[in-house]
Amino acid sequence: GVAAARAVASAPPPAVSMTETAQDLLRSRVVAALTTAFGPDAAANPMLTPATKAGFGDYQCNAALSLAKKEGKRPRDVAAAIIDALDVSDFCEAPTVAGPGFINLTLTPAYVSGRLNAMLADLSRLGVTKRTGSAAKKVVVDFSSPNIAKEMHVGHLRSTIIGDSLCRLLEFLGHDVVRLNHVGDWGTQFGMLIQLLREEVPDFVAGTGELGDVDLGDLVVFYKRAKARFDVDPAFKEAAQREVVALQGGDEVSRRAWQAICGQSRVEFQKLYDTLRVEVTERGESFYNPYLADVVADLERQGLAVEDQGATVVFLEGAQFTNREGDRQPVIVRKSDGGFNYATTDLAAMRYRVQEDGAQRILYVTDIGQSLHFQQVFQVARRAGFVPEKVSLEHVPFGLVQGEDGKKFKTRSGDVVKLKDLLDEAVVRSRSELEARLAADNRTESPEYVQDVVSKVGIAAVKYADLKTSRTSNYRFSFDKMVKLDGDTAPYMMYAFVRTQGIYREAGGGRALEDMEGKDVAFAYPVAAELALAKTLLRLPEVLAELERDLCPHVLCEYMKGVSTLFNRFYEQCPVRGADSEAVKESRLALCAITASVIRRCLDLLGIQTLDKI
Ligand code: ARG
Repeated sequence: GVAAARAVASAPPPAVSMTETAQDLLRSRVVAALTTAFGPDAAANPMLTPATKAGFGDYQCNAALSLAKKEGKRPRDVAAAIIDALDVSDFCEAPTVAGPGFINLTLTPAYVSGRLNAMLADLSRLGVTKRTGSAAKKVVVDFSSPNIAKEMHVGHLRSTIIGDSLCRLLEFLGHDVVRLNHVGDWGTQFGMLIQLLREEVPDFVAGTGELGDVDLGDLVVFYKRAKARFDVDPAFKEAAQREVVALQGGDEVSRRAWQAICGQSRVEFQKLYDTLRVEVTERGESFYNPYLADVVADLERQGLAVEDQGATVVFLEGAQFTNREGDRQPVIVRKSDGGFNYATTDLAAMRYRVQEDGAQRILYVTDIGQSLHFQQVFQVARRAGFVPEKVSLEHVPFGLVQGEDGKKFKTRSGDVVKLKDLLDEAVVRSRSELEARLAADNRTESPEYVQDVVSKVGIAAVKYADLKTSRTSNYRFSFDKMVKLDGDTAPYMMYAFVRTQGIYREAGGGRALEDMEGKDVAFAYPVAAELALAKTLLRLPEVLAELERDLCPHVLCEYMKGVSTLFNRFYEQCPVRGADSEAVKESRLALCAITASVIRRCLDLLGIQTLDKI
């Protein structure tokens, strides 16, 4: 024990970079080896991944297999030739060949310790470097984006939760993130709403009176009333259509009514954002209204937009938009009645975000059902030169939320689930869960404590259940599962944090996590579980880099679950307070501190707050 710890302590840290991730280091070394052994073409894809099985080292390079085919050689011989050219001795054990020709790579304990100390140097960053220079991007994230006066549904909840998590991640990595709420505040639905408002509170609309007791509080009900009139009353319908034109033309009276409606919606939406602790800047569809005509004119000038059956359209290019007769599918940018639509607004928004916001990457977080829409408008925007090739346009789609039975998510009575009710219910369920636990443990807590815990856990449970599912899959919504303390749930992860922190506090004589920060610890790994935990901890920057590219929060959830599992094993097998020596104890305390900080950071990136007690 002690001798081993001293041996590691006195070994000078390896001369390899402690700011690059192991995967990046390995990739460049493998590329160099492939180039030396088989030429630059062979190095195009180094096929380097984290090891798929325990016992296969920490990373593996699978390049030998495909290369062998090309070279007409035996895969194991190719692997041996790669290893001959590979120099990783400054941070890896000697590489080995496994199975048909996989190269297994194992990090040395000295390198792991160096990286752990780099994490310990700043527990808020944990070895995750801030992107700087050209790697730091201006990123526009278009998310949440409900429609005014229409029900904000679970799809918008998913967009809000996923979008917020992606913003948090990108912000943490040092990008300049613009969080935009592309609210649907400019549709034809406003014609009916304004017309109804005109009839019910003419004084207000005329600007001579108050809104009075017209209840816009439940705009959805107001909308339904307007829609009912619209469907049966031709005079109302006509007036509503006139209102759309008046509003778009900037009529003062119409505008006042429109503002009242939007203002009311804003208040309602904001309550939800406050509950979820999500920040987003409203820049709705109406914002782009002044640019729509010019966008279409520009498309026409470029010969991209043409007249088709009274409408103005852009015909799309590419096989997926061409039918067997060779007809190309059109995107309508101006309807035959002269009105602009959803696609026109998105084109104007893209142009604005590039030209005015200076966006370098634009993300759209919506349900998968809008994929076609985004393929279409992306293509038009590129061809029109609104978005240069160096700016990345990414639709970040997600699947449907289903009920526990796999069918459409609705209430027992068959209505759409109101988001407020859904979040309230999650809090109610987490309260029952907590109260049952308190009773079982004979624990008493103040009502304030219980309220604080359940309000945080309830919201966290909903967020985590959403984020842990692979984004594009549909997911089944189950209140009971998501609030459980054991399972792949938010409470479990929050509990893991409480536990790591508790162990640290107790074994460290009441010290706080942060006291460990900046220490140069002589890490020791007398038990295998310690090294396994350590190696997983230092993967954090790699995992975040993967997320930065693929925008998949479930990868972060899986990583955090892995950390908690390994921490539990470490805790069972490696006594902290009762460690064999002070040196081993200090090493274990440092592992606890890093683990706690990693879990806290991951939760924060998922939009989940930690608690001191649960
Ligand atoms: N309001 C739209 C909806 O509820 C989502 C808007 C997404 N963003 C965009 N730029 N199209 O479906």
